[in-house]
Amino acid sequence: MKILVVGGGGREHAIIKALKHNPDVTGIVALPGNAGIAADAECVPIKATDIDGIVDYVKNHPVDFAVVAPDDPLALGCVDRLHELGVKCFGPDAKAARIEASKVFAKDLMEKYGIPTAVYEAFDNADKALDYVRTCPIPVVVKADGLALGKGVTICFTREEAAAAVKAAMLDGAFGASGSRVVIEEYLEGPEVSVLAFTDGHVVKPMVSSMDHKRVGDGDVGPNTGGMGTIAPNPCYTAEVAGRCMKEIFLPTIAAMNAEGCPFKGCLYFGLMITKDGPKVIEYNCRFGDPETQVVLPLLKSDLLTIMMAVEDEILADAPVEFSDGAACCVMLASGGYPGKYEKGKTIDMGNAEAMAEIFHSGTGRNGEGQLVTAGGRVLGVCCTAGDLKTAIEMAYRAADQVKWDGMIYRKDIGKRALGILEKEHD
Ligand code: AMP
Ligand code: GLY
Repeated sequence: MKILVVGGGGREHAIIKALKHNPDVTGIVALPGNAGIAADAECVPIKATDIDGIVDYVKNHPVDFAVVAPDDPLALGCVDRLHELGVKCFGPDAKAARIEASKVFAKDLMEKYGIPTAVYEAFDNADKALDYVRTCPIPVVVKADGLALGKGVTICFTREEAAAAVKAAMLDGAFGASGSRVVIEEYLEGPEVSVLAFTDGHVVKPMVSSMDHKRVGDGDVGPNTGGMGTIAPNPCYTAEVAGRCMKEIFLPTIAAMNAEGCPFKGCLYFGLMITKDGPKVIEYNCRFGDPETQVVLPLLKSDLLTIMMAVEDEILADAPVEFSDGAACCVMLASGGYPGKYEKGKTIDMGNAEAMAEIFHSGTGRNGEGQLVTAGGRVLGVCCTAGDLKTAIEMAYRAADQVKWDGMIYRKDIGKRALGILEKEHD
């Protein structure tokens, strides 16, 4: 089988490596892929957001199955267009992708169907939003409505900060068109858990839980990023919490999407906050998380392609989705300056890392001499699996220490909080 994967980051690299385990896979083409993915797939320089380009490519180079991984092409209807060509796909259509692409859609869905989430108000008028933050409870969270690369969320501890966040999004266009509407919501407290779940619109099969580390600095300080590292499983996601999530969040969300006439098929990402009142939804994503995928898929024992095809054919009930009992840790290596301005084109010295860990490439390229160079903010994900979390973390850091380039940054405390929770449990 020939498989198409749309996207070119660490998540796609992890998906491609998992797809290759299936012996029926004879070739994978990645659009656009990256320098690391090129070792595992044929990379063709068509942007993931160039839907016409992708459709033209597939017309001339038929594939048996397509996986559309990033949010933008999903929101732009890439799956809808590939379906029109008769190509089977993994990923939601544009209507279902609104669960991520519009925070207002997601919040209204949760309110209508009684799915637990932060209390909120939505605004498309800046004066009304500014009036609201003069009296609303503080802290408060201001979110741009549309896709904003994980940067459209501002947590505000004072009214001045809230007013400034509203102005930045709605009047100064800090997040482009994404910010012309905002959601202003209650600040929730508690540990965060990411749960990726396969669903075919009928059944939902959650994957092993994970924990992202979104802030750039050790100890969760500094600005939000796309994610600086992950561990799996997440110790806050106990069997009791998992049971409540299934009953109060996962199944009601699938039913709500069906009732709205936009059944969700693909990977639905639940960003959850485990509050003292129980689990609540912080956000939905219409896709695999990055870098959650880099720790979740290495623990998947079942065959990924079989599951993805079962989702498309709506027979997920028949497909096993099993995970190993071990743990995984992924440390992201990033360019100095990220998530702000950073330089590209730095030569990467891998040392012996590739023999010590699975390296998923997020933003890499080749220079004129064919050397591996940095080509993005997040550059490499160094991932290890082991029988227990402590070992997985130690192994990932030993490998990460091998890698060097001018200006490289990474967090030194990925998994530290999770280990603390596990140690407390054993006391
Ligand atoms: P989002 O892009 O919606 O995932 O938000 C990014 C991050 O902001 C989340 O991972 C949380 O850490 C934080 N966040 C978002 N919404 C809230 C909230 N209502 N209360 C507290 N923290 C939040
Ligand atoms: N790691 C967070 C995300 O993929 O949105």
